[in-house]
Amino acid sequence: MNSNTIDKILLKEINKRRTFAIISHPDAGKTTLTEKLLLFGGAIQQAGAVKSRKVARAATSDFLSIEQERGISVSSSVMKFEYKGYEINLLDTPGHKDFSEDTYRVLTAVDCAVMIIDNAKGVEPQTQKLMEVCRMRNTPIITFINKLDREGMEPLDIFEDIEDKLQIECVPLSWPIGMGKRFKGVYNFAKKELGIFSAGYSPKDDDGFYIDDLTDLRLDEMISETQAKQLREDVDLIVGASEPLDMDLYLNGTQTPVFFGSAINNFGVKEMLDAFVKIAPPPGKRSTAQRDVEPFEKGFSGFTFKIQANMDPEHRDRIAFFRICSGKFTKGMKVRHHRIGKEIKLSNATIFMAQERNNIEEAYPGDIIGIHNHGTIKIGDTFTSKEPLKFLGIPSFAPEHFRRVILKDPLKAKSLNKGLVQLSEEGAIQVFRPLLGNLHIVGAVGVLQFDVTMARLKAEYNVNASYETIDLSVARWITCEDEKVLKEFKKKNESNLTLDSEGWLTFLTTSVYQLGFTMEEWPQIVFHKTREHN
Ligand code: G4P
Repeated sequence: MNSNTIDKILLKEINKRRTFAIISHPDAGKTTLTEKLLLFGGAIQQAGAVKSRKVARAATSDFLSIEQERGISVSSSVMKFEYKGYEINLLDTPGHKDFSEDTYRVLTAVDCAVMIIDNAKGVEPQTQKLMEVCRMRNTPIITFINKLDREGMEPLDIFEDIEDKLQIECVPLSWPIGMGKRFKGVYNFAKKELGIFSAGYSPKDDDGFYIDDLTDLRLDEMISETQAKQLREDVDLIVGASEPLDMDLYLNGTQTPVFFGSAINNFGVKEMLDAFVKIAPPPGKRSTAQRDVEPFEKGFSGFTFKIQANMDPEHRDRIAFFRICSGKFTKGMKVRHHRIGKEIKLSNATIFMAQERNNIEEAYPGDIIGIHNHGTIKIGDTFTSKEPLKFLGIPSFAPEHFRRVILKDPLKAKSLNKGLVQLSEEGAIQVFRPLLGNLHIVGAVGVLQFDVTMARLKAEYNVNASYETIDLSVARWITCEDEKVLKEFKKKNESNLTLDSEGWLTFLTTSVYQLGFTMEEWPQIVFHKTREHN
C-alpha cells in the first residue's frame, strides 16, 4: 500500500497499542504482577481487586459457582489500561482449575507475551505448554523472573533452565544483587542504573532510589562491600560476555529480554513495564487463507478467538471476543460474517476495561471487542468490511482429558447432539464420534470443562447425562496425502478413530508413548496437534 494513502490517525492509534498476555505456571505471580501493572496504569486504585477475583474463581465447581466464575472470567478476560500514552490490552490466560483451551487460544490473539518465572522453581509445566503455543506464531516473549526477595536459583542457572526447556536465548536487561534476605536491588543495563530494593514501595513513588554510577562508594555502604564488589564483577562480566538484545531475534521469538524483580514488593515491575511499552511490538500483519493483512489497511477485519456463554441467564446471550486486525471499528458499522454469508451490524460491541465493560464508539487494531450474539458466531470466524478473508492460526488444540457421555433419557439424543455441537462451537469442549459405536466422547484441555458442559447440557438443553471415564489422554488430527495409505490406516486403527464435530478424522489413544508407537509404524500419516476451524 502506498504510504500516502495510509490513514495517519489509524497508524498513530495502531502504534500506541500493545496487546499481550502473561504466561506462567500457577503461583508464579501472574495475579500479583497483573495487579501491579493495573495500578501503574491507574486502572485500579488499590491492591486486592484482582486477587479477590482469583479467590472467587478458585471456588468449587458446582453449577452456581461455574455461573459465577463465567461472570468473573469475562470481566477479567481483557484488561485495558493506559501507560505513558500507550493503550495496553492485557488478555487473561486462565490457569489452575479454569485452565482450558481458551487459555491457549488467547495466545493466538496477542502480539507479545510476558513470561513469569518463579526464581525458586525455574521453568514449570504450564509455562512450557503455553510457550509451545507462542512458538506457533513466533510470539515475542519478555521474561520477568519473580520472587527475588526469596531464596531461589542463581540467575545463570535459571537462564540455563529456560534455554534448555524452552529453546529461547536469554538476554538480561537487568541483573539482581543477591536474593532472599540478601536481595538488595536490580541493576538496569539499558539505563545503566541500580534500583535499590525496599520492600513494598508503592507505584506512586515513581522514583524509588537509584544509583547511576557503580563506582560510587556509597554503594559499598548501602549494599555491603562484598555485594558491591560482586555486582561490579557481574556487570562487567555480563556486559563483556553477552550480546546485546537483537531485536530481530527477539521479535521472532528466539531471544528473550529478561528482567528480575519481586512483583509483590512492586520491585522491578516499573522497569519491566517501561521497557515493555518500548519493545513490545504494536499490532502487526496477520495471515489469512487469501493473503496477509496489514493493520493499517482501511478495510476493517478481525477474528473471534473466544466465546463466553450466557453471562446473564435471563437472556442466554453469548459474547464473542473479537480481535481487530485492520481498519477502524465504529459503533453500528456493518460487517460481513463470511462463514454464514451475512451482513451484521455491530451496534452494541463492548470494550473491556480493567473492571467494567463499556459500550464503545470506536476501536482499533490490537483492541478486543465483545460482540453479543445468540449462537451464530463460532471460534475462528472472520468479519471484514467486505473482502472475503479467513484468518488463520486460531486453531483447536488437542485435548488431553476425555470422557464418554452416557445419556440417561434415550429420547433426548437429538438435544444432546445439538448441545454438544453448540458447546464445541464455542470452544468449551470438543466432541468426537467414534467410527465404531455411537456414544459421544468429549475431550477437554482442562477438566473443569467437563463440569461446565454437564451443567449447561442440563440447564440449556434439558439433557440429563453422565460421564464414564475412558482410558484416553491423547488426540491427534489425521491427514495423509496418499489415499491408499490412509484407507489402510483407517482399516487397521478403526477402534481408535473418531470424527470431530467438523467431520475431521481424529486418532485417540491412551498415551504419548502409544502415539509414538503408531507414528513410527505409519510414517506417511501426519498427526496434527492443532487443527484450523472450517
Ligand atoms: P498466580 O496468579 O500466578 O497463581 O500467582 P499469585 O500472584 O497469586 O502469587 C502466588 C503467591 O506468590 C502468592 O502468595 C503471592 O503473594 C506470592 N508472590 C507473588 N509475587 C511474589 C514476590 O515477588 N515475592 C514473594 N515472596 N511472593 C510473591 P500466597 O501466599 O499464595 O497468597 P497471598 O496469601 O500472599 O495472597
